[in-house]
Amino acid sequence: MIKLMVIMGTRPNFVKCAPLFWRLNDYPDDFELVTVHTGQHYDFSMRDAFFDDFQFPPIDYDLKVGSGTHGVQTGRMLQELDSVLLAEKPDLVLVPGDTNSALAGALAAYKLHMPNGHIEAGMREYTWRPEEMNKLVADHCADFCFCPIPRAVENLRRENIPDNRIFLTGDITYDTFKIAVTQGFYNADVPKKYDLKSGQYALLTMHRAETVDDTQILAEIVMALTSLEMPMIFPVHPRTEKRLKEFALWSKLEAAHQIRLLEPIGYRDFLGLVLNAQLVMTDSSGVLKEAFYARVPCVVIDETTEYDEIFDLGCGVLAGREAKGIIEAVDYMITSKPAPRQADDTIFGNGDAAGKMLDIIRKALS
Ligand code: UD1
Repeated sequence: MIKLMVIMGTRPNFVKCAPLFWRLNDYPDDFELVTVHTGQHYDFSMRDAFFDDFQFPPIDYDLKVGSGTHGVQTGRMLQELDSVLLAEKPDLVLVPGDTNSALAGALAAYKLHMPNGHIEAGMREYTWRPEEMNKLVADHCADFCFCPIPRAVENLRRENIPDNRIFLTGDITYDTFKIAVTQGFYNADVPKKYDLKSGQYALLTMHRAETVDDTQILAEIVMALTSLEMPMIFPVHPRTEKRLKEFALWSKLEAAHQIRLLEPIGYRDFLGLVLNAQLVMTDSSGVLKEAFYARVPCVVIDETTEYDEIFDLGCGVLAGREAKGIIEAVDYMITSKPAPRQADDTIFGNGDAAGKMLDIIRKALS
């Protein structure tokens, strides 16, 4: 039996862990699973809603670190993780993504000289963002770098990570999407719940610190959103709501008749909204990928993103963060419709990244 410890903490981490947990059911004699939730995301809608939607196994260790500055949050995680790792002595620690929880999990395992693996390894934006350093450190701590796309492999080779640590598995969020769609694991009629017509609305998300923490940037974005005519639905991340209120922009969105503001929503409702949208607007790489898998055009409100491949396939456009650029990008994706529905999605694998990871781990550790 291989004792596999999975350390996660945020919404996108849960999306990346779900297929792994489902796939582990096929290997009952090979793996023993231990789950750790750092507590980075703790609101019901940011955590339990996902655990319920994905039918997660029980969480073995809930570290309850909560919010704080990056240093405090990551430091608390490291402190708590040491005792969990020493008590459990896992054969392998797995961390998904680029969050502070991934950084802490990888670093804690590395310092204790415990084998560890990074899911979604090798992605780089080559610009300053907290996540850039998180994923770089997680990759350099890892014995198993599970890469979602071929470019990630090239990035790791350029950083002199040895080939025997690099594995191209495909993107695990494609597993989540594919399983959810083929098994009807989403709420298809969710647009109706919000008085929206299928194919006639935009789904908006934004939460990145670089997008929402600066008054001027956020004001520009709000200016663009309020000047667009199309119906829009916007599940608002707690960080974003806080900033919009602080910068007196929340009331502008509330006053815009075409914009519907929501609390954060679970995966089933969210996927239902993606699948039926005319357009997705986001600053999240994860949501960009979901839009791509669903073949819904996407406008990325950001200066860079992790997955330029999607733009090369004509399925999305990088809009920047200025009102003019956002309005033009929306117009381009809606009116020019640059052939988004014929894209080749094999760059993200075949939808069984989780199975490939488990096979690699089994072969290496049995
Ligand atoms: C984190 C990740 C980001 C990921 C995002 C997904 C890092 C550095 N960032 O950003 O990469 O895309 O998760 O959502 O790890 N808050 C709540 N309730 C919660 C969680 C957060 O109210 O359950 C509020 C708090 O005010 C908190 C703020 O949101 O201070 C930011 O939360 P935090 O986890 O620090 O970062 P995210 O912005 O969620």
